[in-house]
Amino acid sequence: MPVLVVVGAQWGDEGKGKIIDLLTERADVVARYQGGHNAGHTVVVGMNEFILHLVPSGILHKGKKCIIGNGVVVDPAALLEEMDAMTKRGIKFDKNLLISKNAHLIMPYHKALDVASEKLKGNKKIGTTGRGIGPAYADKINRKGIRMADLLDEKTFREKLSCNTGEANFMLERFYNAPLVNQDQVYDEYQGYARRLKKYIADTTLYLSEAIAGKKKVLAEGAQGTHLDVDHGTYPFVTSSSPTAGGACTGLGIGPNTITEVLGIVKAYTTRVGSGPFPTELNDKTGELLRERGKEYGATTGRARRCGWADTLIIRHAVRVNGMTSAAITKLDVLDTLEELKICVGYKYKGKLYEEMPSELAVLEQGVPQYITMPGWKQTTIGIKKYEDLPKKARTYVEKLCKLSGVKPSIVSTGPRRDETIILERPFQTVKKR
Ligand code: IMP
Repeated sequence: MPVLVVVGAQWGDEGKGKIIDLLTERADVVARYQGGHNAGHTVVVGMNEFILHLVPSGILHKGKKCIIGNGVVVDPAALLEEMDAMTKRGIKFDKNLLISKNAHLIMPYHKALDVASEKLKGNKKIGTTGRGIGPAYADKINRKGIRMADLLDEKTFREKLSCNTGEANFMLERFYNAPLVNQDQVYDEYQGYARRLKKYIADTTLYLSEAIAGKKKVLAEGAQGTHLDVDHGTYPFVTSSSPTAGGACTGLGIGPNTITEVLGIVKAYTTRVGSGPFPTELNDKTGELLRERGKEYGATTGRARRCGWADTLIIRHAVRVNGMTSAAITKLDVLDTLEELKICVGYKYKGKLYEEMPSELAVLEQGVPQYITMPGWKQTTIGIKKYEDLPKKARTYVEKLCKLSGVKPSIVSTGPRRDETIILERPFQTVKKR
């Protein structure tokens, strides 16, 4: 019953899309367990680039079952738009996609509330993607969300919509002074979505439990990253779901004892989108170089990502809270031209040295990062497929980063394409050595 969970170890955008796509070759089922269309996974297949937001990237492989789990919040308009665009490029959904009956819907009032709330916060804003993610999860936890199953039941849908729109419009009008949502229009729009999505909506927990019992290999796909986790991240500058490995259990309805491996995706440096503390951020030429060489612009919003040095406090925390069994180090090639590299090993705040991830925002915001410096390798690593072919200094960097973070590397990625990868150990115990 191998379930492999793939999680982001930093603030998202670690390059999960490529690694998940690679591992999918050996999986039978790919299941997304949290988040919504705030995520953006970029996958390069040959000359084609695909950016996926909601659909698990397994869809790019023929015959893999792809699941949108109960822990995901689904904007049906965004999902159908993504499916339509992919259908035009020859991707088939009919037998391959299942959407959990229990997945919650993102409604137009969620998006309106997200945008209005951010506007009101001014410079204290979280920097959300404005997709309605937070308000949709808030309704779920507040026990008034609308689920896929409700969408298929006209009466329930009408009742819930009426109740929720009334409340949301009250807030939009009285508190935010923002435009209102038209309930009848939303009803008609969503009934149209129901007709199109009906055939995909299923009891995915049952499907997964049978698949696991039948020894099928399940790849659980996390979105965002550990430090955007609502419990374990840099709260309140987080997303509203659980990208950490535990989220795979609740977000798919599988038992923890089914999980055999947790692969953490670790970018060779660090990036973050949106507001919030980022101790190793570089607001200088090196930061710009990382952004340009790493094409660090959001796949969902196009926003420039903040860039900085690798931080072992961040990664070690991710190793702990996810139970990471190994790490995939991504975008190593982005560092190729640097004279020297730094790795953060602590923060100094008010005379005290912090060597483990602190919860206090003040330490993260004002702490002075303590670095070790390593020499750069100053030669290209793009497309290298064998570990021994990496320059010695690049290997030393990978090994030091992993040792200080307390995790072993199993994959090193040296470019965006599927074959630009070094496989050191076989995650899923099924990925062939290349
Ligand atoms: P939300 O998920 O739209 O509510 O945004 C909350 C925070 O998470 C913001 O800082 C976003 O920039 C960040 N965020 C959400 N999704 C992603 C992602 O896929 N990659 C990186 N950051 C993300």
